Amino acid sequence: GLYEVVRSYYGRLFQMEAHIERLNYGAQQICLHTTDFSYLTEVCQTLLEKNGLLDKDATVYIQITRGVAARLHTFPGPDTPETVFASVQPFKAKTEQMENGVKILLVPDQRWARTDIKSVNLLPNVIAQQRAVDAGAAEAVFVRDGAVTEGSHSSFFAVLDGTVITRPRSNYILAGITRQVILDLCHQLNLPFEEKSIFQEKVYDVDEAFISGTTTEITPVVQIDERTIASGKPGPITKKLQEAFGMLVE
Ligand code: PDD
Repeated sequence: GLYEVVRSYYGRLFQMEAHIERLNYGAQQICLHTTDFSYLTEVCQTLLEKNGLLDKDATVYIQITRGVAARLHTFPGPDTPETVFASVQPFKAKTEQMENGVKILLVPDQRWARTDIKSVNLLPNVIAQQRAVDAGAAEAVFVRDGAVTEGSHSSFFAVLDGTVITRPRSNYILAGITRQVILDLCHQLNLPFEEKSIFQEKVYDVDEAFISGTTTEITPVVQIDERTIASGKPGPITKKLQEAFGMLVE
């Protein structure tokens, strides 16, 4: 199955088209019968309305699975409808983390090789995130073949010599929607950016780091494992991006 998490800012679904597009992409990749879920925009809007969330911050959770069928190791037949589930809940941003920054824990990326699909199979993510939380970190960030891929539920960015760096899109990362918003903001703000690998041995010496995501927005990283990043405070480029992001969702 597939899932999406969408943020709603006072009743306005943020980047909904991009979420639908990613869902449609996933549906094609896992061979669902339905590959156009654009009708869900209206469903989500109605859910917000009926749950009194038009004047509050909220998240929408969407989950699509292959449907109800006999337990086989193949897909159910073409007449089995998918199970589509959507729910909404009030959301409170982690403002303290966004202001002061967080610690992240680097962990081996033990996920499958199609993490571009937003699949509900999150066991490696959950195990990694529990390890991070047990170590006093806010997020587990995966390392594959010596390079950082992404967080257990966020994208990872570094800033080095004034350039914003993040891993290029591939089968090894989710095409984060917030990630793309940030790259667009870099473009608009004339901030140099590059999509390239960040190696673990270099990551402790970056000037700034941050994680991004639908619920994470832009959260500065001030500690990686037991190492403090730069001054241990959120960096100026991270703050500039946070400010610009804040204006987008105002
Ligand atoms: N997580 N990478 C992974 C593995 C993710 O699970 C997520 C999002 C991201 C960031 O993507 P986006 O900017 O589109 O939210 C990157 C969602 C929020 C979750 O699992 O709750």
